[in-house]
Amino acid sequence: MAALDIAALEAQARGRLDPAIYDYVAGGAGEEWTLQANERAYRAYSLAPRVLRGAGVPDLTGGLLGQPMSMPLVIAPTAFHRLAHADGESGTAWAAAKAGIPMILSLAATEAIEAVAVASGVCPWFQLYIQPDLGLTETLIRRAEAAGCPALVVTVDSPVFGRRKRDQVHDFTDLPSGFACENMREAPGAPPRQIAFSPTLSWHDIEWLRARTGLPILLKGIMHPHDARLAIEHGVDGIYVSNHGGRQLDGVAPTLSLLPAIAQEVAGQVPIVFDGGIRRAADIVKALALGADVVAIGRPVIWALAAGGAAGVAALLDALQDDLRHTLTLCGCGSPADLDPSLLLREAWS
Ligand SMILES: Cc1cc2nc3c(=O)[nH]c(=O)nc-3n(C[C@H](O)[C@H](O)[C@H](O)COP(=O)(O)O)c2cc1C
Repeated sequence: MAALDIAALEAQARGRLDPAIYDYVAGGAGEEWTLQANERAYRAYSLAPRVLRGAGVPDLTGGLLGQPMSMPLVIAPTAFHRLAHADGESGTAWAAAKAGIPMILSLAATEAIEAVAVASGVCPWFQLYIQPDLGLTETLIRRAEAAGCPALVVTVDSPVFGRRKRDQVHDFTDLPSGFACENMREAPGAPPRQIAFSPTLSWHDIEWLRARTGLPILLKGIMHPHDARLAIEHGVDGIYVSNHGGRQLDGVAPTLSLLPAIAQEVAGQVPIVFDGGIRRAADIVKALALGADVVAIGRPVIWALAAGGAAGVAALLDALQDDLRHTLTLCGCGSPADLDPSLLLREAWS
């Protein structure tokens, strides 16, 4: 199998995408310190592998919230897939289903959840920003339930929209005409080309949500151990550690640095999903060793989609799975469950 090279994939995607769209995907908030730090953080750890453990070919299978998975990877929710390729969210969902992993569909998707479920044969998980109009939010939940959605991922790191210089340069504020946020068709003036954020959201809204659906709820964008504790106290089914890929607040610590304290606080009470800067299997190994149960990838999926459509995403997922098996074998691990902090050294690479 060809070696995984996400930088090459990004270069290919860049060659095909309109510069405004490339920058929308690649960019981050402010001076992009957090964006860069997310990727660089993996260099602060090196591996200390074990040998002669007779571990055999690693078994990557597992599950999350009752859903069986072929490997500990999910597709992070990212907006506007049809801007990257005509295959759109349905193409990404098809590739995820083929690989045996969940895709999280963004509320800001350019295809409706019902259409994606039909096209791919598997209903994606649904990412929700609680809308200031709670009636609209409830409609969204009912639609997700009716479509067969297995879980809700509620993003809580966005009380306002992040300020991204690259988008300001291109004046990229919402979807180009001809595209719409197809899940928002019940919104006034719908379907809109952007979604709404609310700085008044609080834990009361999580209580409201918890009382309104029996679906498992993951809170995405947890960055502090105290919030992880509050999330568990409010009955969520999983914590999703993320700084939104450095797109919201510049200066936030890289997620890999935030993870250990959160994992300590959570102490296995609920599963931890983790994202930010994962570009190779060794990055996955480091995040799992530091306490994540499952990792997610955002931008690499869009690069693969832009470069090769649904087949491109399928090839990326195959390559990541192969790279993960290879890396675990070389670490002397028979499965991701064998990973722990003793396999890491905190040591900066130059
Ligand atoms: C173009 C783009 C759009 C995104 N849209 C959403 C979104 O609609 N909802 C959400 O919760 N997160 C969104 N995210 C954040 C991702 O879910 C994820 O946290 C982040 O991309 C992970 O970092 P990575 O790109 O380094 O893998 C978006 C990220 C990108 C790059």
